[in-house]
Amino acid sequence: MKTVTTIEELRQELDAARTQGKRVGFVPTMGFLHRGHLSLIRAARAENDMVLVSNFVNPLQFGAAEDLEGYPRDLARDAAMCEGEGVDFIFAPSVEEMYPEPSPIRVTVGSLGDVLCGRTRPGHFDGVATVVAKLFNIAGECRAYFGRKDAQQLVVIRQLARSLNFPVEVVGCATVREPDGLAMSSRNTYLGAEERKAAVILKQALDEAASKIRFGDRDAAKAARLMAETIEAEPLARLDYAAAVNPDTLTDLDVIEGPALLAVAAWVGKARLIDNVTVVPE
Ligand code: PAF
Repeated sequence: MKTVTTIEELRQELDAARTQGKRVGFVPTMGFLHRGHLSLIRAARAENDMVLVSNFVNPLQFGAAEDLEGYPRDLARDAAMCEGEGVDFIFAPSVEEMYPEPSPIRVTVGSLGDVLCGRTRPGHFDGVATVVAKLFNIAGECRAYFGRKDAQQLVVIRQLARSLNFPVEVVGCATVREPDGLAMSSRNTYLGAEERKAAVILKQALDEAASKIRFGDRDAAKAARLMAETIEAEPLARLDYAAAVNPDTLTDLDVIEGPALLAVAAWVGKARLIDNVTVVPE
């Protein structure tokens, strides 16, 4: 495994691999890897000839009051985990390498960035789309793997690849959970012991609403209300949103007739946690 820090070197390595007919699997990350990332790496390993993991905490996707400075970072630990998974290259550029000069150029995601997490994180998805567009341009033709835990991000990135004709096949992978149901996230490290126990409320709220829908309740607003009430009943959690939306467009549903994305976000201590499930009524 090789750690590469410059765009030029990475391009050379990947071009050389593709010249040999190798298919590239790409796992973009912000580092501090957990089992969720490892499942993306394993999928990339299984479906491609070589695997690239990027490790870059992207300042553009953090708001002024968010956790950019405190975001957990440990490249040595990440590299050891990647090595154990048979990764070929880690791309770990500096901020200067990715953003060498101030630039007004951004990818904007419009209405896809205004809903759900976008309401409390204005500009976040433009920041994600901008860095992912850069990463796709740097990586070139590949399959790229993203977790479904970040459902809105996945919708944005699929649309990005289609709209801007990137030669990238976007692959969504199942959310990996702790035994009690909490979705894996680098931000779970912010949770104290009591907060960690309370954090399971997000998944419980989703499961309750999903089972009501499966058993015939088709009212999306009612499902959203039920999830909100469940989370609000947990004293250590502060609700951001609970919603039942169309999984492809993220627009609000009225009557649930087809697949619905149930999505929630809440602060537990200083961790802002998100989770979702897709439910199909019987
Ligand atoms: O999901 C993440 O870790 C990040 O948002 C991504 C896609 C690597 C872009 O910085």
